[in-house]
Amino acid sequence: MNKRMGWLLFCCFLLSGLNAQHPVKTRKRLQREVIRCINASAQQYKVMMQRLDADRFPVTWYAKDDKLVTSGSEPWVGGFYPGALLYLFEYTKDSSLYKEALRKMQVLEKEQYNKTTHDLGFMMYCSFGNAERLEPKPGYKEVLVNSARSLASRFNEKVGCIRSWDSDPGRFMVIIDNMMNLELLFEATKMTGDSSFYRIAVTHANTTMQHHYRPDYSSHHLVIYNPKDGNVLKKQTVQGAADSSAWARGQAWGLYGYTMCYRETRNPQYLEQARHIAQFLLAHPRLPADKIPYWDFDAPRIPNAPRDVSAGAVICSALLELATYTSGKESRGYLRAAEKMLQSLCSPAYRAAIGENGGFLLKHGVGNYPKNADIDVPLIYADYYYTEALQRYWKLGTKGRL
Ligand code: GLY
Repeated sequence: MNKRMGWLLFCCFLLSGLNAQHPVKTRKRLQREVIRCINASAQQYKVMMQRLDADRFPVTWYAKDDKLVTSGSEPWVGGFYPGALLYLFEYTKDSSLYKEALRKMQVLEKEQYNKTTHDLGFMMYCSFGNAERLEPKPGYKEVLVNSARSLASRFNEKVGCIRSWDSDPGRFMVIIDNMMNLELLFEATKMTGDSSFYRIAVTHANTTMQHHYRPDYSSHHLVIYNPKDGNVLKKQTVQGAADSSAWARGQAWGLYGYTMCYRETRNPQYLEQARHIAQFLLAHPRLPADKIPYWDFDAPRIPNAPRDVSAGAVICSALLELATYTSGKESRGYLRAAEKMLQSLCSPAYRAAIGENGGFLLKHGVGNYPKNADIDVPLIYADYYYTEALQRYWKLGTKGRL
């Protein structure tokens, strides 16, 4: 999609029904629905709890043979289940959810010293970060700061980025997903007063803004740099449909990442970036009417391509935050789009009935399409950002911001 066409479509989006006041009745209904979904999600995770071994983390579930796929603490997904439990506990105050989160965090804790991954933000901030926010403990702070140190050890001054994948030492690989790990670094500076974490985070965000983004504000998945001089060697995809395509979850990571960077720095460049990304997504001619994207905006066989509910949940949560940093029609547009997404996510089209879906909350995610792995399945990260979006919407309501 070219830049001019993008702006035109975005203006149409703002001028369409979305600029009107959301009817009060519909909004009140959605607020009630969100509370129902939080309570139902808490019930559903009790089903998950029964199935899960003490030292394992849920990843996905295969309906065919009722197989719950789990992992140890090392892969990138370990923080999502405890994090989602904490969001659900925050509203329900159900202590069994809290206890289950703390049990899983004990297993996860050792990853604070893991220097072989860039995913420490996902793993440690979604879990320990939320736990610290709800009931601060000195032990959590220590885990978070150690995790930030491990993450910062992967930063290369020449490139101006944190390394994502280690597979080839001669090629410094950075994926757009890495924007999500910066929140942990911002938090570490707040906790310690050591500004080096903050500096690494903004340097990474700036380099990514320069090299990952195309003129239409869609993002490449992977940029490969020369680790010796920081020159870009290649831009490509691994999880998307093509090197030139817009892989949906990658776009979602970018939108969320730059919105979060604006929250942490108040640098207007990050807000501009987030607004442009939102514009790309919301005005996209291939964003379906229910606003849950196909797994790639350029996927073959659209409209018969699978949706990715995880991208939808991340975008929904990010838009709820972005709406609070903008004003007037623009802010209302983001809020209305997020509400449409929440309506979809809360509907039976995406939300599983209690006791079904292997104990996961949402259906219809895509893990890695090109690898033919985890297509049209539940995904733990979809659940996490869904619980976060529910939480954010509930809180906006309690603050009178809806
Ligand atoms: N960070 C891996 C993914 O989004 O699939």
